[in-house]
Amino acid sequence: MELYVLRSKEEIGLEIGRRIVERVKQNPYIVLGLATGSSPLFTYEAIVKYSLAENVSYKNVTTFNLDEYVGLEETNKQSYRYFMNDNLFKYLDFKKESHHFPSIENMMGYDEDIKKSGGIDIQILGIGSNGHIAFNEPFTNIDEKTHIVELTENTIKDNSRFFKSINEVPTKAITMGLNTILQSKEIFLIATGKNKSMAVKKILEGKYDPSCPASCLNLAKCKVHVYIDDECYEGIK
Ligand code: GLP
Repeated sequence: MELYVLRSKEEIGLEIGRRIVERVKQNPYIVLGLATGSSPLFTYEAIVKYSLAENVSYKNVTTFNLDEYVGLEETNKQSYRYFMNDNLFKYLDFKKESHHFPSIENMMGYDEDIKKSGGIDIQILGIGSNGHIAFNEPFTNIDEKTHIVELTENTIKDNSRFFKSINEVPTKAITMGLNTILQSKEIFLIATGKNKSMAVKKILEGKYDPSCPASCLNLAKCKVHVYIDDECYEGIK
């Protein structure tokens, strides 16, 4: 695991964005695992910026998103499909059929679909303040593949900032499991701000603690890059 401390979330976005675009140039058939939330926003902005400037095509790129709420249509601004279209997909020449999101209908076959595509080459991850990754809440079974979850009060509260009221936040989601995520060939985790410090501290202890799902990254066989900003680092020291 490699830790990178950069000044700001903008800088993190530029650096990871740069690295990903280089990888797409090397392998136009790359499979990307994508996250939503505010953490990867600057990464997506940088991917768009560099790709347009350098004419990088995404027509052969496949994407698998980590998670999606249950019960929100693609046209709902809070759905993760809407988020991805709005922040990344619509700017580049992706083929619509190359995007995958877990749903009630496909969740049993989602891991198999990932495998069939050759596996996730690069997985981008955010992290919840309680250490959740995707929607794998504390004490999730580490062997879990893509599955349905009841969101915890903590996550509903955290995510309510994107909704008009807390009552509009769905209570269920479909998420890749920790096992699914750990199959990735390379992982970039982004954690910015003070409220992520405790969760990152747990990861940096170097072992898996089920109370912090993200600490399972210590068990990953692949390269894991953890990017944090100064503010997050301040809270760890
Ligand atoms: C949600 C998502 C996670 C994300 C987390 C952190 O719960 N399901 O994938 O990592 O929020 O969000 P943010 O990056 O906005 O802090």
